[in-house]
Amino acid sequence: MFRRFFRRPNPIRCHIRNVSLFGKDYKEDHMTNLTPRIINNLGNHKHRIPNHPIEIIKNEIYKFFDSKTGITFAKFEDLNPVVTVEQNFDSVLIPKDHVSRDKKDNYYINEDTLLRAHTSAHQVELLRKKESTFLCCGDVYRRDTMDRSHYPIFHQMEGVRLFSEEELGIPLFQDRKQRTESCQEHYSLEAVEKVENELKITLEGLVKHLFGEDVQYRWMDEYFPFTHPSFEIEVFYEGDWLEILGCGIMEYQVLVNGCSEDKIGWAFGLGLERLAMRLFDINDIRLFWKSEVVLDQFQSFNGDFRQFKFVLPERKIEPAKFDLAFWIPDGFHDHDFYDIARNIDVDDAIENVELIDVFSHPKTGKTSHCYRTYYRGALKGLQFKDVEHIDTAIRAVLAEQGAGLR
Ligand code: DAH
Repeated sequence: MFRRFFRRPNPIRCHIRNVSLFGKDYKEDHMTNLTPRIINNLGNHKHRIPNHPIEIIKNEIYKFFDSKTGITFAKFEDLNPVVTVEQNFDSVLIPKDHVSRDKKDNYYINEDTLLRAHTSAHQVELLRKKESTFLCCGDVYRRDTMDRSHYPIFHQMEGVRLFSEEELGIPLFQDRKQRTESCQEHYSLEAVEKVENELKITLEGLVKHLFGEDVQYRWMDEYFPFTHPSFEIEVFYEGDWLEILGCGIMEYQVLVNGCSEDKIGWAFGLGLERLAMRLFDINDIRLFWKSEVVLDQFQSFNGDFRQFKFVLPERKIEPAKFDLAFWIPDGFHDHDFYDIARNIDVDDAIENVELIDVFSHPKTGKTSHCYRTYYRGALKGLQFKDVEHIDTAIRAVLAEQGAGLR
């Protein structure tokens, strides 16, 4: 499996390989694109390491829900990141042809199983266990660009709160035949308004808890397959509007899938790295993985994250740049290149990669990509000689995979 970045099924290979994750064997197939780099970091979740900045933000969110909402949210933070396609996509109504299912964006173990791409994958499973008010935190996995704000493993928090007719004190259902912009077809407008209001008050409270009472924020309309209506909150922070969470009234069908069809509910999801980067002024996502150094500083964390000042490592050297051009094999995507690079660059020497040129040969019809890779450690600068071997190894893998180096 380690060499399958752009391989089509090979008819000569007569045996099917297995990959073993958390003690369970999975058969590989044409969808498998999990890399050793990811496998080696599976379960290496930062939200459970004491005094890790991700854990601090998680606890701060817990603190808000425990002390300021007046209700008890059950907490789940150790659910298996290996999920089925049905959990990750179907259970939350993501259409079969939706772009988010694409192999280029996800780590598939095989055609039925993948590493969860969001914590929403657990909504239905928890509803079926009769959980109706919960927070679910976990490591999530996505194939993406390589830069200072993207890492293939990051952490999310999901929140769900259901209401029964009794709790809400008004009729929940009304058959309105068609949905409108503000209301699904099944629910009464009054119920939706009440739950939406509750959702907004709760999340505004969370935003104030995290960013301070005088934070400037705004609500934006959004679209998610699993909520309607859907919203996003943006916070004005150090000169920029930063989107920090998605939320909405849960689609009735999600509740049906979760055997909770007599209720109405809200849900939200947010990324913990994004929050931690803003709140602690951490400017490079790789720092969350430099546990020794980061934890050293956070040992002195006294519980008041707004007073805490994270001191960024000083790097005096500019990034070392390497350009690499090659004819791409069929079906090749930028994310394949990033995964090859990440797989070799186990110590995160690469700060970012840019696709700087795409060229199609008029005669052969072949396409070439040129990538510029910037090498600079999150903690210290790197020189040409420190990273040359990584570039050489990337070239070797590309050549082995049938990419024609230029
Ligand atoms: N799952 C979404 C994502 O990863 C985030 C999200 C948005 C979660 C809206 C929710 C929600 O529960 O209601 O981008």
